[in-house]
Amino acid sequence: MLSERMLKALNEQLNKELFSAYFYLGIAAYFKDRSLEGFASWMEGQAEEELGHALRIYDYIFDRGGKVELERIEKPKGEFESPLKAFEAVYLHEVGVTQSIFKLADLAREENDHATYNFLQWFVEEQVEEEASTKAILDKLKIIGGSSQGLFMLDRELGARSAQLRGLLAQKA
Ligand code: FEO
Repeated sequence: MLSERMLKALNEQLNKELFSAYFYLGIAAYFKDRSLEGFASWMEGQAEEELGHALRIYDYIFDRGGKVELERIEKPKGEFESPLKAFEAVYLHEVGVTQSIFKLADLAREENDHATYNFLQWFVEEQVEEEASTKAILDKLKIIGGSSQGLFMLDRELGARSAQLRGLLAQKA
């Protein structure tokens, strides 16, 4: 059984993961609007992943006999000065999510909730990957600067990578 504090914190994280899905979808729409289909596809893939994160927490709350409380989801930002600014927002968002997961793990330790602490380790590892992948793209955008040719090439690269990832996921399903 989950403590009240743990349950509240997990429900808050569930809301944050749902917001993350919405956040990525908003940025996907920003890129799609500019015909940067590769960037858009990458962001759509992220939105799907975030929904998966939310569902993991949703299932876990039920598995521990808790009650899921769905709250209002904040409106995400849909306009950015540039693709670089959009990726800066993405990277900062992921750094914030990492902090939030760490706080949850701290709370699980405080509450002597070994099951939740173990459950959260998947998220701890996932955040390392999320920060690294967004930082790598952000760094490339910094190198590209204002070059439209560079942006076009990165768009193609991200599109190909998203298609490959989705193909792998479809094979697993
Ligand atoms: Fe669910 Fe990107 O953190």
